Amino acid sequence: MSSMLDLIKKEKVIPVAVIEDVSKSVPLAEALIAGGLNSIEVTFRTEAAEEAIRLIREQVPEMLVGAGTIYTVEQCRRALDAGAQFIVSPGLAEEVVKMCREVDIMVIPGCVTPTEVIKAIGYDLSVVKFFPAEQYGGIATINSLSQVFGDISFMPTGGISLDNMKAYLSNDSVCACGGSFMVAKNLISEGDFEKITELTKQAVAIRDEI
Ligand code: 3PG
Repeated sequence: MSSMLDLIKKEKVIPVAVIEDVSKSVPLAEALIAGGLNSIEVTFRTEAAEEAIRLIREQVPEMLVGAGTIYTVEQCRRALDAGAQFIVSPGLAEEVVKMCREVDIMVIPGCVTPTEVIKAIGYDLSVVKFFPAEQYGGIATINSLSQVFGDISFMPTGGISLDNMKAYLSNDSVCACGGSFMVAKNLISEGDFEKITELTKQAVAIRDEI
């Protein structure tokens, strides 16, 4: 599992995609790779999500594929069956955390308060999602939390953009930023993969400055 964290730390930017049309999933993954990112979080908010994960795993094997918006055991089981390599939840969904621990799959639950972080530590987790990041105080809150919880890595998501990404990534406790800014819903639905590659390159350039 720590190797999964290493991969996420190496990526440092995790595109969070809402895929409505499964036929867009493989070109989307290829567009991200062309831009320099090898990971994707496919949100489990659409009918297409499960099949999208399956297809990307099958057809783009170099991609690290996570499932996001997982907060029930049933969603988690479907995501894992489809081949999700890590699970992201908007909150501390304890049954989902337990399930992932049992099958030894990395789970990144949403935690924004010290109490939630302490609960995550109780499950022996070392990475949490800080969501929605901007609304919960952004990097200032993460700076405070990371002073107290030095062994915890944070993955801020929600309101991350090309403009504020650098500030987040400058804190060593931030393992990666999650965001939809390079994979906006309309870009995916319109099939504007060139734009997705271009935005991805911009994100990678900012990441590489750090
Ligand atoms: C998510 O879908 O997990 C986040 O809401 C993504 O947030 P963003 O669209 O602000 O990047």
